[in-house]
Amino acid sequence: MNGVARTAVGAARLRARESERPDRLFDDPYAGAFVAAADAGQADAGRGSGAGDLFSDHLVFRTRFFDDYLSGSGCDQVVLPAAGLDSRAFRLDWPAGTRLFELDLPELLAFKDGVLRELDTTARCERVPVPVDLREDWPGSLRAAGFDPARPTAWLAEGLLIYLSPAEAGRLLDGIGALSAAGSRLAFEYAPGAAAALAERVTAMPELRRIATLWKGGPGEDAVARLEADGWRARTVDASTLATRYGRRAPSGGFLTAVRSDADHRNSPE
Ligand SMILES: C[S@@+](CC[C@H](N)C(=O)[O-])C[C@H]1O[C@@H](n2cnc3c(N)ncnc32)[C@H](O)[C@@H]1O
Repeated sequence: MNGVARTAVGAARLRARESERPDRLFDDPYAGAFVAAADAGQADAGRGSGAGDLFSDHLVFRTRFFDDYLSGSGCDQVVLPAAGLDSRAFRLDWPAGTRLFELDLPELLAFKDGVLRELDTTARCERVPVPVDLREDWPGSLRAAGFDPARPTAWLAEGLLIYLSPAEAGRLLDGIGALSAAGSRLAFEYAPGAAAALAERVTAMPELRRIATLWKGGPGEDAVARLEADGWRARTVDASTLATRYGRRAPSGGFLTAVRSDADHRNSPE
């Protein structure tokens, strides 16, 4: 795997590392197998790079925060745009009948399914991989894969939006909105000020410049207003407010969660 798909390996590497800690905030028993398969035969496998140390606290907080978000969503239809090497279909408890769609680039999902076949493991829900480029007609592919827009859905765009330009991220959020029945939920990382500061630090570290070249800006500071105008009630949470709950030093950054109040609000009389 190359380019942006390879960033999923970095995330899995950090989840594997956290899973080894006695005081871990989550346990991802699949992450190590993905990393081992991705590293096999790679002379420059990224063990111990500065990337790990810089992103580790953030990734641990976000994984735990989004685990709790999905577990409490009350939705039995779940979509992970840019699922990467996420193993939540296998490691979280899901309500009976849950259908979970994993969207990502074809090469990433092909790699992931190869490793899962080797592990011979069974998902705890109905897992549906959907190979797509999220800058193209992914809603058509999602519907063709069996997604039901009439059912409330829990969406999680984790570790994705920074790899999209503001226009692409805006189109993605609009696409999610168009498929979201009332009661749907949405979450992603959101901390525009912190993102700019992180970009500055990363660009200053030579070994991380390759990652920085993949960053395209993400949704921008108007994301909350955009979602609110599209019928979502959005809340933002700063990572620092989770430090006591998680018993860890807080990274910079934060998260956005939203609930779709009325999918037809744009057609409603004022
Ligand atoms: C940093 S990884 C995050 C993966 C996963 N959500 C996680 O937190 O471990 C970014 C993911 O975004 C995916 N991605 C980036 N741009 C994409 C696009 N245009 N279409 C589909 N997937 C994309 C990559 O393939 C990769 O799996």
